[in-house]
Amino acid sequence: MPRIYLDYNATTPLDPMVLEEAASALKNYQGNPSSVYEEGRAARILIEDSREFIKSFINAGTSGEIIFTSSGSESINLAIIGAVYAYMRNNTKKTPHIIASRVEHHAVLNTFKFLESLGVETTYVGVSEFGELLMDDLISSIKENTVLVSIMGANNETGTIFPLKQIFEEVKKIKDDVLFHSDLVQIIGKSCFSLKDIPLDLCSFSGHKFYALKGCGALYIKKGVNIDPIIHGGHQERGLRAGTENIAGIVSMSKSLNILKNLMNEELNRINALGGAFLDKLFYGIEGIRLNGHPVNRLKNTVNVSFDGVKSETLLFNLDLYGISASAGSACNAGAVSLSHVLRAHGYDSNRIESAIRFSIGRFTTGDDLDYAVSAIKKGVLKLRAVHD
Ligand SMILES: Cc1ncc(COP(=O)(O)O)c(C=O)c1O
Repeated sequence: MPRIYLDYNATTPLDPMVLEEAASALKNYQGNPSSVYEEGRAARILIEDSREFIKSFINAGTSGEIIFTSSGSESINLAIIGAVYAYMRNNTKKTPHIIASRVEHHAVLNTFKFLESLGVETTYVGVSEFGELLMDDLISSIKENTVLVSIMGANNETGTIFPLKQIFEEVKKIKDDVLFHSDLVQIIGKSCFSLKDIPLDLCSFSGHKFYALKGCGALYIKKGVNIDPIIHGGHQERGLRAGTENIAGIVSMSKSLNILKNLMNEELNRINALGGAFLDKLFYGIEGIRLNGHPVNRLKNTVNVSFDGVKSETLLFNLDLYGISASAGSACNAGAVSLSHVLRAHGYDSNRIESAIRFSIGRFTTGDDLDYAVSAIKKGVLKLRAVHD
């Protein structure tokens, strides 16, 4: 039986060309990049070349604006906590206020919860039933002490894309000095993004969502934006992130982006067409299903659907037996029994949420994989519904 991996939003398989480059870095660059002798200098050059490439991929101003981290989560923590700490240090009498959408990843929401425990004020902005950000609520929540707004580029569970440019511009119109951070973890590799179009103050990336190694990420910090470090020690990463750099991880990210640069349009067209056809076939082949999130403004690689009368964990278990890997809600919460906070924010009833499954496709998915998946999903759904009849 084939294994069909339909969980690219949880993590992407490592691209073999990236693996080759990362293995070569591991083998040939073993010096500490902070050392001044030859082995160290060689490792430093490799890191700085990667930084330069990543800078140009997102159209940042200078490579110094890119800080390497261990993950998307770490980048997000550094952006949000770092901005709040810097504000607190400079404004000792004011309580900082920060804003995020209700559908952010837990990397954002739990960082907000941590800051709440330190007395920071927070506002969570809701979404419509289609996952659209309630703009009036966002704008009216901005206050004199608002330090930072964090709005993701695309949602990991539903694939709904936020109109980031418009949101960014409206926030800046109200308060120019609010820092705007965006979690772009699901955008890179799935949609085109350029800082020239949307001059964000801070944005976060994660290597393992775009075919690079797990355990590496990056944070873009616009020149002139001041944030405090949250990991203290050596002076790596301009003193903003102590710790010896993960050379293989960093190289894997720049190699992945290099591949993406050449493949992007062709790959996106192929994946979008496959995702659209997959959704059509599911709707055509199975009754009683509902698409979650936005019907149009979504990453087409992501199909989040609810199957009436079927519990998602049971269906996922059956799909696994048929060789299919997918997830219910966010993979980072696997095992947790709580209903998806993202789908709850859409106002869906619990039956719809409990029967929601996310399928997400990518570079190595084929049309045959999806045809097999549709027939397995249909078999699984009909079997489970028959048990309940
Ligand atoms: C939207 C989003 N943000 C942040 C993260 C966390 O990234 P990482 O796994 O690199 O910590 C994820 C991971 O699923 C994600 O989907």
